[in-house]
Amino acid sequence: MAQPGKVTMETTVLTGQTLSFEANPFQVPTKEAARHLAHGAVAIQAGKIVATGPADEVLASHPHARRIDHGQHLILPGFIDAHAHYPQTGIIASWGKRLIDWLNTYTFPEEMRFSDPDYAAEIADLYLDLCLANGITTACSFATIHSESVTALFDAAQGRDLRLLTGKVMMDRNAPDGLRDTAQSGYDDSKRLLERWHGTDRLSYVITPRFAPTSTPEQLEAAGALWSEHPQCLMQTHLSEQTEEIAWMKDLFPDDTDYLGVYERFGLTGPGAVFGHSIHLTDRETDHLKASGSAIAHCPTSNTFIGSGLFDMRAAQSARIPTGLATDVGGGSSFSMLRTMAAAYEVSQLRGTTLHPAQLIWLATTGSAEALRLADRIGTLKPGIEADLCILDLASTPVITQRAARAETVWEALFPTIMMGDDRAIAQVYIEGTPVPLSFWS
Ligand code: GUN
Ligand code: ZN
Repeated sequence: MAQPGKVTMETTVLTGQTLSFEANPFQVPTKEAARHLAHGAVAIQAGKIVATGPADEVLASHPHARRIDHGQHLILPGFIDAHAHYPQTGIIASWGKRLIDWLNTYTFPEEMRFSDPDYAAEIADLYLDLCLANGITTACSFATIHSESVTALFDAAQGRDLRLLTGKVMMDRNAPDGLRDTAQSGYDDSKRLLERWHGTDRLSYVITPRFAPTSTPEQLEAAGALWSEHPQCLMQTHLSEQTEEIAWMKDLFPDDTDYLGVYERFGLTGPGAVFGHSIHLTDRETDHLKASGSAIAHCPTSNTFIGSGLFDMRAAQSARIPTGLATDVGGGSSFSMLRTMAAAYEVSQLRGTTLHPAQLIWLATTGSAEALRLADRIGTLKPGIEADLCILDLASTPVITQRAARAETVWEALFPTIMMGDDRAIAQVYIEGTPVPLSFWS
């Protein structure tokens, strides 16, 4: 009999529709890139996928497995949010400001509260519940300048067996009293947290200078030094989100060629660097993102909500820059990765590029996993990959149901859920093959 806390070798087979990717659907035709099975199955053992394929074949090769039938629901890899700010949960959807005023009016006062470990723990719990309710099984989140905020989120994720990435925000200027560290303390606190948490269970530490305008050159240098000492960690920050921000950056760093050039000077570009937004890029910046092996986190609900601009997905994909999808909660206006995919679709439409549903789902799963250098662990349905799964109901509301009823292909059936779906479409979430109790998030 299974013992609590012990990994069992019992096999579970989930049946339903399955969808996963063999290749990037921006680079190869959808038919070759995506694998959809109307009667598919995923076999899971000890928290990992051990087989996928047609349901009859997988069931025949696992005759003693426990079967869970998801009927017509779609079994997907769990969604991966490549860039978020868990401390901004409480101020999501705050009205009427562009980036710099939004930070000063709403964000910084709220982030100030995270010196209190009890408040940080309360919001960390709420944040992860909201992620799970929306099918997000891994998030890469900024914390605040306070070490307590990192500890709270790692503790909460560890308690739920989640794969999670976060880091202490480094910010030593252009922020209010009580919300600044120093080049030295930012380095020391980050190093201590990194050594405590990175690689513990499913947790990863991310070196997190907020963005060039809130760090002195000395702090960016310290962040670069820390990263060079710990290249196994990701480095996350913001890049070229809004025009006023870029003008501000130019005043602060007049001798650098461009925004990315600032990060480059301090050793903050390269494999494992994840740049949120990256909207108003020069050709040189696009070339350097590509050449350096850096990644982008596309944050479409944030970009429309804060009025930042229209990300050029076509340029990013043509340059083959690893690109993931992100909520950017709480500059982003939704926890839903479906809503985030819908916004990505709309932003690309406004740029004259039509994204296929396969490309949208890929961005929210494999694309984000690649951007976070986790594609060997999460983000697809393949043997050896961790069994973090999202089960999608393609008929979750009356309007979606009547639209999907006309579908002749899986893509036509899926697209109404992408455009109009919300947390009601998330029928079930599995973490390492274990269903998260429904009561957990309802
Ligand atoms: N740039 C620097 N900090 C932030 C933040 O918290 N949110 C967004 N959207 N952009 C930023
Ligand atoms: Zn952000």
